[in-house]
Amino acid sequence: MCKCLRLACCLLLGVSASAFSETPQEQIENILMSLSLEEKAGQLSLIPIEGEPTEEQLQLIREGKVGSVIKANGVANNLALQKVAVEESHSGLPILFQEDVIHGYRTIAPVPLAEAASWDLQAIRNSAAVAAREARAAGIQLTYAPMVDVSRDPRWGRILEGAGEDPYLASLIAEARVRGLQESGEQHENILATVKHFAGYGASLAGRDYNIRDLSERELREIHLPPFKAAIDAGVSSVMGAYTAYDGVPATANTWLMQNVLRGELAFDGLLMTDWETIPNLIKIGVAADKDDAVQQAMAASFDMDMTSQHYVQRLPELVKAGLVSEKSLDDAVRRVLRLKQQAGLLDKPYAAFNAEREQSELLSERNWQETKDITLKSMVLLQNDNKVLPIDSSVKKIAVIGPMAKAQKDLLGWWAAKGQPDEVVSIYQGLAKRFKGQAELSYAEGVRFDGFNDAGVELIEPALAVAEAADMIVAVVGEQEWMSGEGGGTASLTLPGLQEELLAALKELGKPMVTVVVTGRPYVLTHVAKNTDALLQAWMPGSTGGEAVAEILAGDFNPVGRLPITFPYHQGQVPIFYNYKATSHSFNAGADDNRYSTTYRDVPTTPLYAFGFGLSYSEFTYGKPSLSASTMKRDSSLTLKVKVKNTGGAEARETVQLYLRDKVAEVTRPFKELIDFSLLTLKSGESQWVEFEVSEAKLAYIGRDLKPRIDAGKFTLLVGPNSQDLQELDFALED
Ligand code: BGC
Repeated sequence: MCKCLRLACCLLLGVSASAFSETPQEQIENILMSLSLEEKAGQLSLIPIEGEPTEEQLQLIREGKVGSVIKANGVANNLALQKVAVEESHSGLPILFQEDVIHGYRTIAPVPLAEAASWDLQAIRNSAAVAAREARAAGIQLTYAPMVDVSRDPRWGRILEGAGEDPYLASLIAEARVRGLQESGEQHENILATVKHFAGYGASLAGRDYNIRDLSERELREIHLPPFKAAIDAGVSSVMGAYTAYDGVPATANTWLMQNVLRGELAFDGLLMTDWETIPNLIKIGVAADKDDAVQQAMAASFDMDMTSQHYVQRLPELVKAGLVSEKSLDDAVRRVLRLKQQAGLLDKPYAAFNAEREQSELLSERNWQETKDITLKSMVLLQNDNKVLPIDSSVKKIAVIGPMAKAQKDLLGWWAAKGQPDEVVSIYQGLAKRFKGQAELSYAEGVRFDGFNDAGVELIEPALAVAEAADMIVAVVGEQEWMSGEGGGTASLTLPGLQEELLAALKELGKPMVTVVVTGRPYVLTHVAKNTDALLQAWMPGSTGGEAVAEILAGDFNPVGRLPITFPYHQGQVPIFYNYKATSHSFNAGADDNRYSTTYRDVPTTPLYAFGFGLSYSEFTYGKPSLSASTMKRDSSLTLKVKVKNTGGAEARETVQLYLRDKVAEVTRPFKELIDFSLLTLKSGESQWVEFEVSEAKLAYIGRDLKPRIDAGKFTLLVGPNSQDLQELDFALED
């Protein structure tokens, strides 16, 4: 039965295609057989439609030249477009609606880097599920998340979209996000996920977006590929290629990367899409002579979907007829598009995904707000708490809230805020005002002003000091605005923009207890900030519930649990700085008298301000001496490391116990330490518990000289502790 007739029957009778007893596979093959070359190419075309469609866009849909649409326009608009596709195009095939739902759709969660700081896979998964429910209810079936690019350079604005610097933690988070998006609820609550950007985009040189970088295959395999593998193993539906080149070949034309690695080694058989305009970019970069060449190269690399350029739909029919692109490769691409439409339920019930009532009740629901607040609380990292100024004591009666971020709303949402509305965000000032009502009086001063990255608002410092002088305690709220990071948000400087450091220094002079809350999407160099405050809370760009979460943490209602998923530099010249450095012939030795002839600097320390994995709570933990079940491991077996952890502070708190590995002899240089496991442990005041880690032989694998995984017999060290710096060591050997 021809596709349009079949769909018409379904619609008329209100029955699903399964009533025709086709298997899913048959359904796809039957549709494929009914399509012309032009209609096939149309299925591969993804175009942006923002708000009201133009007549030209509607015409493209009627002509079957649009397979998917990007942009969030809500149920009513998407349904109207869907009707045009289903009822007015010859194929009758529905549109797949897609959007960047990166950390929430309407209820906005903290930026992904912040979520990673929770190290809490269940909370991260729940947060992805909230995003999926809301986006799906708003008529979107596919999101361009998770972004899993590992980056070690905070100058790169997109660092906020990833999960930090560690491939192991990033892999676990990639899996949690894919599962949260794709499989947390009923079909109508889940959304197809896209892992991006394959591969190596996070290595952009000097923090400049889209930049070149000559990446070794070793770094690609050790650092950048693992989270993609985790997402693919978790069943991610699609993959987006990177803007950048690998080994001189742009991802969009890189057959080795896409065919050999992605489709071959990683066994990905889902949809591969380009990023925005990356097919014409091949001409700009100078690796394709013209449109036809670019299309052929992208097809050869097995890209199924063309984001926005329309080059596929315009040129593929001719190229197939001329024998320059095989019809089989076109068919395979269409199959992969149809499979996603099928999984989203669109082939059987093209209108069921658009339910205005569901949209109304789901967006910004109380449940979504509370679940988002949970991850927001868990994402914040307490970096310093001198004199135990936090939590704020009940004797504090006047709090001066000072700083250009205190009343910010839009900036709390971050760059990828989908349909998040600034006026629905609880600002930090509002959060504090609500929480401290009846307990302490709040005053406010802006302190300094944002004027791009320029120094502005020096005249505001004096009035702010007067406000602060009249208070018992200062809460300074500083940071960066949302446009300063995100895509295209590279910054050469990593000190807080404008006069914010000067403001903090002047406030500190007043000698009052002082808390500084930092709102940023990336690690800034907080060396001077830390000197000019008692307490320091990294709140990131915390999303809709950010102000409530900050207030609850400052009040002590929530004991901070966040741990840095990325190193905070001491000085910006240290960048890129990351914890899993490899051994060198002249390694830095923290205990040595003279480190001149070592991999270090003469002018600033080699160590960071705050190490990967670091974070405080309002309690303290002590670690006993760890022990190993044996000092040798046999092949195919495991060892158990045990360590007793005690909460020696005065409040219930959560500790993130971290386990690192050092491989002492290998055929290639290996990191001094690399994270291999961790455990979240909540203990009451005075309580202690044994934490056990099973270390299997598989954990000892690394990539050898032939770029293949291997495990060598020999000596290893396990390192356990609260962060990547404060560790106790234990040696063991793997025996053949
Ligand atoms: C970004 C992608 C994003 C796409 C669609 C591109 O510029 O690199 O991450 O998904 O735009 O908005």
